[in-house]
Amino acid sequence: MTAPVLAAVAWPYANGPRHIGHVSGFGVPSDIFARYMRMSGHDVLMVSGTDEHGTPIVVQAEKEGLTPQQTADKYHRMIVKDLRGLGLSYDLFTRTGTGNHARVTQDVFTSLHRNGYVVAQTAQGAISPSTGRTLPDRYVEGTCPICGYDGARGDQCDSCGNQLDPIDLINPRSKINGETPEFRETEHYFLDLPALAGALTGWLDQRTDWRPNVLNFSRNLIEDLRPRPITRDIDWGVVVPLDGWRDAPMKRFYVWFDAVIGYLSASVEWAVRSGDPDAWRRWWSDPGARSYYFMGKDNIVFHSVIWPGILLGHNGQGDKGGEPGAFGELDLPSEVVSSEFLTMSGSKFSTSRGTVIYVRQFLEEFGPDALRYFISVAGPENQDADFTWDEFVRRVNTELANEWGNLVNRSLSMAHKNIGAIPAAGELQPVDVALLEAAETAFATVGEALSRNRVKAAITEAMRIVTLGNRYLSETEPWKLKDDPSRRETVLHTVLQVVSDCNTLLTPFLPHSSQLVFEALGGHGVWAALPEIREVSEEGREDYPVLMGDYALEQARWARQPIRPGVPLQKPSPLFTKLEESLGETGPEWAPIQQG
Ligand code: MF3
Ligand code: ZN
Repeated sequence: MTAPVLAAVAWPYANGPRHIGHVSGFGVPSDIFARYMRMSGHDVLMVSGTDEHGTPIVVQAEKEGLTPQQTADKYHRMIVKDLRGLGLSYDLFTRTGTGNHARVTQDVFTSLHRNGYVVAQTAQGAISPSTGRTLPDRYVEGTCPICGYDGARGDQCDSCGNQLDPIDLINPRSKINGETPEFRETEHYFLDLPALAGALTGWLDQRTDWRPNVLNFSRNLIEDLRPRPITRDIDWGVVVPLDGWRDAPMKRFYVWFDAVIGYLSASVEWAVRSGDPDAWRRWWSDPGARSYYFMGKDNIVFHSVIWPGILLGHNGQGDKGGEPGAFGELDLPSEVVSSEFLTMSGSKFSTSRGTVIYVRQFLEEFGPDALRYFISVAGPENQDADFTWDEFVRRVNTELANEWGNLVNRSLSMAHKNIGAIPAAGELQPVDVALLEAAETAFATVGEALSRNRVKAAITEAMRIVTLGNRYLSETEPWKLKDDPSRRETVLHTVLQVVSDCNTLLTPFLPHSSQLVFEALGGHGVWAALPEIREVSEEGREDYPVLMGDYALEQARWARQPIRPGVPLQKPSPLFTKLEESLGETGPEWAPIQQG
């Protein structure tokens, strides 16, 4: 029951601050899952970091007149703040620019190489005819040969999700100056996916419990596997540890090769930082451990084909056999949990297309739990979802404030005013018992949904209990029970117990407000732990922030916490402020709704 659980969260590119589309895909869903798993007694390791290599960083650096290192430093710091502000409970959120990450990447490559699953081959690389510079990946755009989308990039089409090479594009053009690239022979290392296809198919065939869209998409991808290049003609990335390559200024690993290895390197780094360098093995070598990978749908291929392929090759489990590599036999993903896209009035959230709502500004104005609530209840879990200010205002006002906020506030105020403390219950009537039973049963139903990452179903069920609590108050009318104080105390006891239950049920979604409700009910200490920013140093570079946290200290458990009669109560302050209705029509000043 309490298997170790790895929550492996997609690594955001260090090329800009995060917008709400990003965090609705990988951030909030993974945190809800990790929090629930910890509350139900699992040993959770939640890791990620910023993805600092490749053309996404180099292109942004050129735009800003910075070096790639300065760009990565700048946005790493910003992203750490965004994620900390949302309360995402990473055990470690690090970066791919560390020495540890380079070593782990190189060790994995060396194992693949020794087992024969990476092979050198000549490829056609794009070159700018006017400057002679290489044009890897995002430096070339054109029409996708598979789906016909015109904005496809040299390494991937964002529209159909297929992986590409620049030479596959129809009408390729340089992103720098629009010219048509020339193609020249260049040597690269390729991951021999055909030699891993059998093992990949065997593994994927056993995955029956994934979201159907993710599973179908992944099954299609492994129908026709070709070798994929894992190195690039670029000077920014992890060095290839082979003679002739080590000192080559323009040969580096492809960003996606090193990024997925980040899950392992971050686990290793976490173990070192927590004082037991071997502790990572618990999540990687124990066949009973479970691992869940969280991302947006454009990342699926890398997690359901490339990363499992790398792991199988490292383990020596493909057609060419081999020995487990540097890290011993490593577990493959239990589940690839992918969400769809958050759109804003129809268009995909994208910094390049101008409809951007940044996490930082959102948090400053509305706080983290309002956003976490919206993403939980209306996010892109199984299909693309549209964010509108109108819908945001409606959900915050009618659901968070009127339903949940009100239940907490009314119950605590009445108990505070009439008794000054948590009352004891006298004899229960059927209406009390029914409510208490509904709340207790919800731990199983909401928990079951959360364990399968059905976030929307889970929060809907939790909110149904909140509604039952409000209905109970309307039916029992404790405000009319002045002459029957003992019945009034029983009713208030019952509803406060259900407030406490709902608060526990909502904790994975709303960790910040759950701490406040816990305290309002007389709790002391940490109920739901939050991540902390720690500055760390590494030789030869500026100090940089990572996210870590003391989650073992938190008291939140996935079970009813019996409230304690006699605990003094303070006058409650409102949990959620209602938003101006006009916000729904205009949007905030910093992201106004475009008319027309
Ligand atoms: N940086 C990628 C993106 O933003 C995600 C990388 S996930 C990892 O789309 F697996 F590679 F780490
Ligand atoms: Zn396409």
